[in-house]
Amino acid sequence: MMRIGILISGRGSNMVAITKAVQEGQVPDSEVAVVVSDKSAAPGLEKASALGVETAVVTRKGRPREEHDAEIVSVLKDKQVDLVCLAGYMRLLSPSFVREFPNRILNIHPSLLPSFKGLDAQKQAVDYGVKVSGCTVHFVDEELDHGAIIVQKPVPVLDGDTAEGLSARILEIEHETYVEAVRKIAEGGFRIEGRRVVLG
Ligand code: GRF
Repeated sequence: MMRIGILISGRGSNMVAITKAVQEGQVPDSEVAVVVSDKSAAPGLEKASALGVETAVVTRKGRPREEHDAEIVSVLKDKQVDLVCLAGYMRLLSPSFVREFPNRILNIHPSLLPSFKGLDAQKQAVDYGVKVSGCTVHFVDEELDHGAIIVQKPVPVLDGDTAEGLSARILEIEHETYVEAVRKIAEGGFRIEGRRVVLG
């Protein structure tokens, strides 16, 4: 049984997509054990509760990042989480957090990495004038939006696209992409060769 912990800071639509897929049996032998938010007002918390998933709020409270992360790690360990999914979690994990879950932390980013790292990736894509963007699910390492790539899907940028319009179309694809990546991890049998994730 793969026990999944999902970290959110906001809306939580990717968290909902993963949780529903797990509950509907689209991800073999797995369970969402806990949803953790660093924001007490995150709308995703109520959505998680409505899906019957336990939630926890762990705010930063002005502490050093390592202390905040250590408390989140202890919640995840308490729930015997073995896969961590960052889903709109708006903080960079500390090296000590990353080391607690080697190759067991995933993130989704709304661009085709390595393009447009960081905030407002969809606006960056529109402003740059690319014709194709998309989303990426990758392993988390100590650098922002950097770890080995698991799944990417393209989304065309349309003439006259706005950041909002492109974001909405990428978001739809994000949900299926994240589910596909989690399913691949649950099915097992991947190895990491340098930066390359070789599945199956
Ligand atoms: C998504 O666009 C995700 O790629 C980015 O933050 C957004 C989170 O949306 N990291 P949601 O909270 O999953 O709805």
